[in-house]
Amino acid sequence: MNSAGYLIPLLLFLLWPLLLSGFGSSHNPSVVKIGALLTYDSVIGRAAKTAMEMAFSDVNADPTVLPDTELRLIAKDTNCNVFLGSIETFQVIEQEVVALLGPQSSSIAHMTSPIASNLHVPVVSFAATDPTLSALQFPFFVRTAQTDSHQMAAISNLIDYFGWKEIIAIYVDDDLGRNGISALGDELERRSIKISHHLLLPVQVESNEIIHMLNESKHYGPRVYVVHINPDPSMRIFRIAQELHMISSGYVWFATDWLSATIDSLSPNDQTAFEILRGIVSLRQYIPESSNKKAFDAQWNAMRKKGLVNSEVNAFGLCAYDSVWAVARALDQYMKDGGNFTFSFSDVLNDLNSSSKIRFGNLKIFGGGTTLLGKLLQVNFTGLTGRVQFDSDRNVINGGYEVINIDEKAVRTVGFWSTRSGLSVSAPPVEISEHQKSYSNQDQKLHEVKWPGGSAEKPRGWIISDNEKPLRIGIPNRFSFRDFIMEEHESHKVQGYCVDIFKEACKYIPYDVPYRFEPFGNGSFNPDYDMLIKMVADNVFDAAIGDIAIVTNRTRMVDFCQPYASTGLVIVAPINNAKENAWVFLEPFTAELWCVIAVAFVMIAVVIWFLEHRVNKDFRGPPRQQLVTMFLFSFSTLFKKNQENTVSPLGRMVMVLWLFLLMVITSSYTASLTSILTIQKLSSPITGIDSLIASNWPIGYQVGSFAYSYLADSLFIARSRLVSLGSPEEYERALKLGPIKGGVAAIVDELPYVDLFLSKQTEFGIVGQAFSRGGWGFAFQRGSPLAVDMSTAILKLSETGKLQEIHHKWFCKLGCPDERRQSSEASRLQLVSFWGLYLLCGGFALASFVLFLTRMIWSYIRYKRQQKAASLALSSAPPVNRCPGFVYSFFNFIDQKEENTKRSASSDPENHH
Ligand SMILES: *[C@@H]1O[C@H](CO)[C@@H](O)[C@H](O)[C@H]1NC(C)=O
Ligand SMILES: *[C@@H]1O[C@H](CO)[C@@H](O)[C@H](O)[C@H]1NC(C)=O
Ligand SMILES: *[C@@H]1O[C@H](CO)[C@@H](O)[C@H](O)[C@H]1NC(C)=O
Ligand SMILES: *[C@@H]1O[C@H](CO)[C@@H](O)[C@H](O)[C@H]1NC(C)=O
Ligand SMILES: *[C@@H]1O[C@H](CO)[C@@H](O)[C@H](O)[C@H]1NC(C)=O
Ligand SMILES: *[C@@H]1O[C@H](CO)[C@@H](O)[C@H](O)[C@H]1NC(C)=O
Repeated sequence: MNSAGYLIPLLLFLLWPLLLSGFGSSHNPSVVKIGALLTYDSVIGRAAKTAMEMAFSDVNADPTVLPDTELRLIAKDTNCNVFLGSIETFQVIEQEVVALLGPQSSSIAHMTSPIASNLHVPVVSFAATDPTLSALQFPFFVRTAQTDSHQMAAISNLIDYFGWKEIIAIYVDDDLGRNGISALGDELERRSIKISHHLLLPVQVESNEIIHMLNESKHYGPRVYVVHINPDPSMRIFRIAQELHMISSGYVWFATDWLSATIDSLSPNDQTAFEILRGIVSLRQYIPESSNKKAFDAQWNAMRKKGLVNSEVNAFGLCAYDSVWAVARALDQYMKDGGNFTFSFSDVLNDLNSSSKIRFGNLKIFGGGTTLLGKLLQVNFTGLTGRVQFDSDRNVINGGYEVINIDEKAVRTVGFWSTRSGLSVSAPPVEISEHQKSYSNQDQKLHEVKWPGGSAEKPRGWIISDNEKPLRIGIPNRFSFRDFIMEEHESHKVQGYCVDIFKEACKYIPYDVPYRFEPFGNGSFNPDYDMLIKMVADNVFDAAIGDIAIVTNRTRMVDFCQPYASTGLVIVAPINNAKENAWVFLEPFTAELWCVIAVAFVMIAVVIWFLEHRVNKDFRGPPRQQLVTMFLFSFSTLFKKNQENTVSPLGRMVMVLWLFLLMVITSSYTASLTSILTIQKLSSPITGIDSLIASNWPIGYQVGSFAYSYLADSLFIARSRLVSLGSPEEYERALKLGPIKGGVAAIVDELPYVDLFLSKQTEFGIVGQAFSRGGWGFAFQRGSPLAVDMSTAILKLSETGKLQEIHHKWFCKLGCPDERRQSSEASRLQLVSFWGLYLLCGGFALASFVLFLTRMIWSYIRYKRQQKAASLALSSAPPVNRCPGFVYSFFNFIDQKEENTKRSASSDPENHH
């Protein structure tokens, strides 16, 4: 009794594991049902159904997986109908399936997933690629196909690789299309590319709609299309595009993996498709070659030859095959861990039973659903599509894509894409990882792609305009300074400096840009340039050309090309031109100073005479000669060329001081005169922008110019001080009137206008430095690719010197304003500055000559008279020929007199001795 009481628990304890396993195995069902929802008559469905059936027989034949249990497939045809699909979901689940394969369509998956989640049945989809299905909202949704978020990353990587900035997206307007393109939009945005147009197709679309939509899209700018629709064996969209001549050079077409799946399903003899699809680039889920896959292909081919299948296998078919295996392996693991298959009624659904004719009450919750889901997410095996393993989003870990390009006859692989390395020409590694590595853009590489039209050269990817719809270019119709840009009144021809630059730049743009000028403004008033820019931003114009200053405010609204002219705001004010004055040489010293200098000369002359007279023989002689010596000595010190030497020590000391004083005076004079002659003297107190702001005088600006808002908003000058001026004539009038009589103190305007204005004016000049540096450019709509090419063209113009040529043509009819300013600013003096001095010198010389001549004539007459008296006394001489005789004898007399003087001078010293 005692021993028995001891033994029973021991036996029980020993036998417990045995009992338990026996209990467990006895509950291992001989049949486990798995549901499937797919559209039998579809590109994916045809391949997937056959592949699934093959997988079921393979699993059942494999002794290592689910050895005692038969997997049974319960498939339903959803016929691509969401409503039908949801009802069939109930019908399938009602049959106590443990997992659901499919659904094939993303829209049906959105309906099926919540139902399956509530009844705890894992959904393993092999074709619903909509990225939003990974949401936490659908915890029982597992995906063996690659999610579109990867595919869209690949597409945007491709678009970025080729450098296109805008695309047109064509997609079916259901969950698949909308969510896929939304993911594409996000990816493109990261690369600053935008989807400029969305072309939505209804699920059941008429050909007419497609024709209309595609025909319309020809007028849009971008020529890069991304087509994301359900697989369509008739390729209707491309057939229509080809009829509209849109699969031709200049166009770029990308198709998501629907196209590769469709092509792969076509029978190998069907070559007609390739002709329409020539040049299209598509993606295909990358499936590494393996022995498993080869065996599968061989089996498939054998079945096709026997007529058992009516389709080639495609990537989705392989995914379907792997899905079955994934579920089988998870079930195997589940059952090994003692999982059972109990289904229970739900209380919530029970309540519905009574109130409705539809018997939801028959639906049961799969008790082990959550555990099975856990097992499913942990599977790790090599299937036909490569390694099957799920990431945290319940998607199969991405194995990458193949980039395919459809050529004349075949599909060419031009490269691969993977999350790890981006685009490359080598296949992604077999060892895949969930973690995305960053890759640099330099590493991206693809083989040569043949684009529509057969060219290997990358299409531009957009058109700016065509002959039917030329570019609308707004031009400011100026009233003043019309040389820059204007519309002729009679002929309505637009011309000017800016127009010439634009036309010249267009020659450097590597494609045709048909355009039409549309003048803005009525020509009797300068238009408001901010308005013009706003009209470009508002799509009234496609671009604006003209003398448009590039300022911050405007760059916020439009894109500017490189500036073709540099400008800046400068101040124009009246100036006093000192060079015009003939008596400028007197100006360095004031009248008093001149007087003091003159007195000093006299004083020094007198002092030196006194000091030297007694000791120095040079300072002696007849009084008249002494006087001359005295003053000549004093003046000649100025040039340090005095013949007479000072002898007395006192005299020398005075001389040293005097020479020093002279040196200081002459150098000051030189400096002062130089500055007077070379620097323009302003007649107004405005010396720069600071003094202009500080003064309270009115300031002029050009109508429509940005100077107004610049002065008011940036420099905080009261708006009441700003006076608008329309033309150069108004400028002149206002400046001449001056600030006090109702004019302006100065005008603030851009340098090119000022140059033109000053070329005809001498009373005004530029004061100070340009205080706002900037440039003129052409404005384009935001993101316009033409702006980039126009910038390049303008740089080329500038490098080839064409810009300067055009500037010369318009503004250098009378010499360039720039050069003129340069020459007058350089310190080159003109004759006019010195004619006063010349007059003085000339006058003095003439006066001395006249004095000398009078004296000579007077002494000649005296001499003649003496001669006559003498000859009268001697005899009566014969009369001479008077006229020539007078001139001859007069010059003879001068000559004689000179000799006499010389003789007397040379004899002088002797006299003294
Ligand atoms: C395409 O649109 C143009 C007008 O933009 C029209 O003339 C042409 O007939 C249209 N083509 C088709 C096939 O509808
Ligand atoms: C089935 O397994 C669950 C736990 O997985 C357990 O709670 C339940 O009792 C089991 N049912 C049967 C009949 O063994
Ligand atoms: C729901 O009603 C049907 C028939 O009316 C019945 O056969 C079924 O057992 C009911 N289900 C539940 C859970 O009561
Ligand atoms: C999956 O299996 C492979 C090879 O069997 C192994 O190298 C890898 O670590 C496994 N991955 C996980 C997450 O267990
Ligand atoms: C031109 O437009 C300005 C306003 O921009 C207006 O003041 C002026 O009267 C117009 N002139 C003519 C002739 O229409
Ligand atoms: C910028 O533009 C706004 C409105 O477009 C205007 O009010 C403002 O004065 C402008 N500022 C400058 C500095 O141009």
